[in-house]
Amino acid sequence: MAKFLVQKSAPLKGEVEISGAKNAVLPIMAAALLTDDLCTIMEAPALRDVDVMCELLESLGAEVNARLDENIVEIQTREITEYEAPFELTKKMRASILVMGPLLARTGKAIIPLPGGCAIGKRPIELHLKGLRALGVTIEEDSGNQGPLVATVERLVGNDIYLDFPSVGATEVIIMTAALAEGITVIENAAQEPEIVDLANFLNKMGARIKGAGTDTVKIEGVERLHGVSHHVIPDRIEAGTFMVASVITKGNILIRNILPDHVKPVTAKLRECGAEIYMTDDGMVVRGDVNPIISTDIKTLPYPGFPTDMQSPFMALLAVSKGPSVVIETVFENRFMHVAEFNRMGANIKTDGNCAIIPGGKQLQGAQVVATDLRAGAAVILTGLVAEGTTEVSEIYHIDRGYEKFVDKFRGLGATIIRIED
Ligand code: EPZ
Repeated sequence: MAKFLVQKSAPLKGEVEISGAKNAVLPIMAAALLTDDLCTIMEAPALRDVDVMCELLESLGAEVNARLDENIVEIQTREITEYEAPFELTKKMRASILVMGPLLARTGKAIIPLPGGCAIGKRPIELHLKGLRALGVTIEEDSGNQGPLVATVERLVGNDIYLDFPSVGATEVIIMTAALAEGITVIENAAQEPEIVDLANFLNKMGARIKGAGTDTVKIEGVERLHGVSHHVIPDRIEAGTFMVASVITKGNILIRNILPDHVKPVTAKLRECGAEIYMTDDGMVVRGDVNPIISTDIKTLPYPGFPTDMQSPFMALLAVSKGPSVVIETVFENRFMHVAEFNRMGANIKTDGNCAIIPGGKQLQGAQVVATDLRAGAAVILTGLVAEGTTEVSEIYHIDRGYEKFVDKFRGLGATIIRIED
């Protein structure tokens, strides 16, 4: 298996360009199934998850022309020839569930293997199913919870739907399905993430009538059909946040291009509490960790606009070395502290109790052999590797390939010494 070798780094310096958002391009690619016209998606990041979504769409009958060296994906689904998503693809990517809505809207049928849980949690989808049932969909669930979901619908009819939790995926599935339903759908307690807004903008350009995306109440007026569009995907706010932390943890001074400052407000605010100097210029965001002493702060993850759960492990890398104790509370996923064991192997001495982590801070970490336990934890152990004495060997790096485009190249462009070794 491939590994990364990360050396202790000098302060990062220079410029980095953020790629298109993984968590925006995946629902947008699924939404392209809603029309038989051509959809052209620009700024699509070259990621394994995007490759899997391309394969999934093709397995359903879409013609997909992915030119990811140019960050462009063209999708045209003249006819959906298959409504069963293949298990060998859905097991690779939980986001496969996103095609369920468009399949039902176009063909009235969808057979989707239950998306498994993953390292960070059970990842149930009862809210997705609650929304689809409210729109008139009949869903058979295998009592043993082993078989695929079999969903059918004669007529999609708009409805009022309350989400017990502002689930990103459930909000996206309901919006995509309601776009072609008869009548009005109102989602209460909807997720407000920027990726929801980008999906709604894509759909509205296709002729959908969606209002309120980005707030907790989204209103969708169903239409007869949708047409093809071209769309630029928003920058990846989690990749941006990861490089913001990388600059501060190494006491660096970097310029981040292609960033929307409103999308990283919680990370900016918390890094400033730690002593970082952050400001916008005409070229992008300057993030400096070399101006003030870097101290600790407390973090509590929440649905957007709260502090993003996907930034919890990268930020904890900073708290392990910044001066003073801190507390991190993870409220979104039930098992998102696997990176703590890896940090402790490097000398962080972090203790956890349930969804709470106590970080003593101020440690001089030592390089070690560590594992990327999920996508974001993989990024986090690279950050600790940048400041640990000696070399840190990171394995299971396929997680990182799923969600960060040209990650090593971008870090090397900032002066980091990271090499990829293939077994
Ligand atoms: C999206 O996952 C992202 N993935 C995740 O990013 C992100 O961490 C998450 O939103 C939260 O922001 C994509 O967009 C592809 P949720 P999603 O449904 O949609 C519980 C990354 O690293 N829940 O908002 O699966 C669920 O168990 C990934 O890029 C239910 O209980 O997130 C979890 O605890 C990781 N029942 C919480 O809500 C449901 O029916 C958040 O899940 C649905 C969700």
